Amino acid sequence: RVVAVIMVGGPTKGTRFRPLSLNIPKPLFPLAGQPMVHHPISACKRIPNLAQIYLIGFYEEREFALYVSSISNELKVPVRYLREDKPHGSAGGLYNFRDLIMEDNPSHIFLLNCDVCCSFPLPEMLVAHRRYGGIGTILVIKVSPESANEFGELVADPSTNELLHYTEKPETFVSDRINCGVYVFTPDIFTAIQGVSSQRKERANLRRMSSFEALQSATRSLPTDFVRLDQDILSPLAGKKQLYTYETMDFWEQIKTPGMSLKCSALYLAQFRFTSPYLLATGDGTKTAAVIGDVFVHPSAKVHPTAKNLLTLNYAQIGPNVSISANARIGPGVRLISCIVLDDVEVKENAVVIHAIVGWKSSIGRWSRVQGEGDYNAKLGITILGEAVTVEDEVVVVNSIVLPNKTLNVSVQQEIIL
Ligand code: GDD
Repeated sequence: RVVAVIMVGGPTKGTRFRPLSLNIPKPLFPLAGQPMVHHPISACKRIPNLAQIYLIGFYEEREFALYVSSISNELKVPVRYLREDKPHGSAGGLYNFRDLIMEDNPSHIFLLNCDVCCSFPLPEMLVAHRRYGGIGTILVIKVSPESANEFGELVADPSTNELLHYTEKPETFVSDRINCGVYVFTPDIFTAIQGVSSQRKERANLRRMSSFEALQSATRSLPTDFVRLDQDILSPLAGKKQLYTYETMDFWEQIKTPGMSLKCSALYLAQFRFTSPYLLATGDGTKTAAVIGDVFVHPSAKVHPTAKNLLTLNYAQIGPNVSISANARIGPGVRLISCIVLDDVEVKENAVVIHAIVGWKSSIGRWSRVQGEGDYNAKLGITILGEAVTVEDEVVVVNSIVLPNKTLNVSVQQEIIL
């Protein structure tokens, strides 16, 4: 039997995701119309003999309760949220729930970061892992040398795929192969984590004996139960024939910012063509609005059915890379390109939304434009409207971030509206 664990973090993490994470835990923010964490969860469905999926985090239990029960029913696999009382780090969090995880007596444990976007080739990793015979196999990808230092850089043996060297976010270039944050382990991983935390305890005791040093290092040392998977486990185990790598040739991105969520939404929509084409809108679903490329429209959203604008003889045009969440209302003549429109938003007639995220309950007035240049990595490369923002008629908002509950009655560009 196999168990999967998805690390979802907590409210003190994901701060680069503001203002969107002010309303909703980042793992539940919709990409391609589905909560971020839904994508790794549904990928887990492909693992043979999967017994359980656990989400581990330090958000309040109630924030995940509804999602976890509905996804368990939908996938027919038990999904449970396990709450840490405080952050224990990416490995410490896993260790914290070892007894529960081991109840199913799993032969293998998948561990996934929730904020990565990829095709999650989990069954393929498991086959490779069994062949290597180590305690863990890491999903890796080749990235550009300039961007590698944002991640864990690693070196693997080209013939055996053994992990030879690992450095987390190094200052000087080590390798363009990086850690994707997707792993499969045997239960021996718990012994390795236990080892790190006992070593820490010993050191803390030694320090207690020499009080001068204790004073000096008390603030520097980490709590004994805080263990990071990358620095504390992967680095020391590299080169010991215990860890191996599996390289993906598919897509992979990390989702730390709202801009990246727009990019990843596009990647997941494109993947739906193969995995769940029924989720993609066709012109018929939205009645007469023109649908271009990959588009998700929630069944409760209303795209103006006879969206013909009498003045311009225009139908609404939607796509590519658009997802429209529950109860949104899209008026006649509206143009939506590369955007995420969240629940209860109203986009009034002839408004244009391009490279933007429109927050819950916001309203965009007639003939308005809400747009970004589409640089997903730049701080102001897309436009983001927080919750309940009103853009009045004929107002233009370009490359800006608007915090919740603001009303814009003048046009802005390259601004953060607090
Ligand atoms: N439950 C829980 N508790 N989750 C945590 C904790 C914790 O204390 N700390 C981090 N996480 C979760 C985060 O939500 C995220 O999903 C994952 O663990 C990794 O987060 P970080 O430890 O902050 O690392 P990172 O995202 O900056 O980088 C890691 O992932 C990259 C791939 O996305 C590293 O492993 C990099 O090497 C790797 O390239």
